[in-house]
Amino acid sequence: MTTKRNFIKQFLKDKKMVGSVSPSSKFLAHKMLENIDFASCKTLVELGPGTGVFTDLIIERMAPDAKLFVFELNDEFYKNLAVRIDDSRVHILHDSAEYIQKHLGKNEKADVVISSLPLMVFPEELRNNVIKESHNSLKDTGKYIQFQYSLQSKKLLQSTYEDVTVKFTIKNLPPAFVYTCTK
Ligand SMILES: C[S@@+](CC[C@H](N)C(=O)[O-])C[C@H]1O[C@@H](n2cnc3c(N)ncnc32)[C@H](O)[C@@H]1O
Repeated sequence: MTTKRNFIKQFLKDKKMVGSVSPSSKFLAHKMLENIDFASCKTLVELGPGTGVFTDLIIERMAPDAKLFVFELNDEFYKNLAVRIDDSRVHILHDSAEYIQKHLGKNEKADVVISSLPLMVFPEELRNNVIKESHNSLKDTGKYIQFQYSLQSKKLLQSTYEDVTVKFTIKNLPPAFVYTCTK
C-alpha cells in the first residue's frame, strides 16, 4: 500500500488520533526544522511521526552523537517505522506523548521537542498532559516546535511558554501554522 493510502486508512480508523488525511509536505518538514541548530542538539524528541516525513529529515541532520526519541501511538505507523528505520541513534517508541520522561535517561532533558500531534482535536485532558509533559521534558534552553492547521493553540502555548512565534505556510495541504516556543 502506498504511504498516502495507508495514511488515509489510519485516519479513517481513528480520526481524532491521526488528525489529518495525508502526510505533511516536504516543505512543511523543512519549515518545522529550519530553526533548529542540529550541531548543538544532543537529545531530540519527535511526537506523532506518522509515516516519518519529519523523522527522515531529522535523522539526516542530527549529529552523530545525538539521540532521537520518537513517540507513535498508532500501531500501523509504529510498526512501519520500527521496521524501516535502522539507526542506533534512534529509539522508536510505541507509547503516548504523555510519557516522554519515562523513556529519557535519568536527569536527561531534551534540546528540542518536534510535535505533529493534532492537539485541538484531542480531549482536553490529553492535550494538557502532552503540553505539560513536553515542557517538563525540555532543557531551560530547549524549544518546542509544533504545527497546527489553525491559530487555536496559540493562547494555550503562550500560557505555558515565555515566547511563542508563529509562521504560516501555504505549501502544505491543508496550509499550516508552525509554532516555535521557548521557555
Ligand atoms: C497529523 S498526524 C502527523 C503525522 C506526520 N508527522 C506528518 O506530519 O505527516 C499526527 C500523528 O500523531 C500520532 N499520535 C496521536 N496521538 C498520539 C499520542 N498520544 N502519542 C503519540 N503519537 C500520537 C498519530 O498516530 C499520527 O501519526
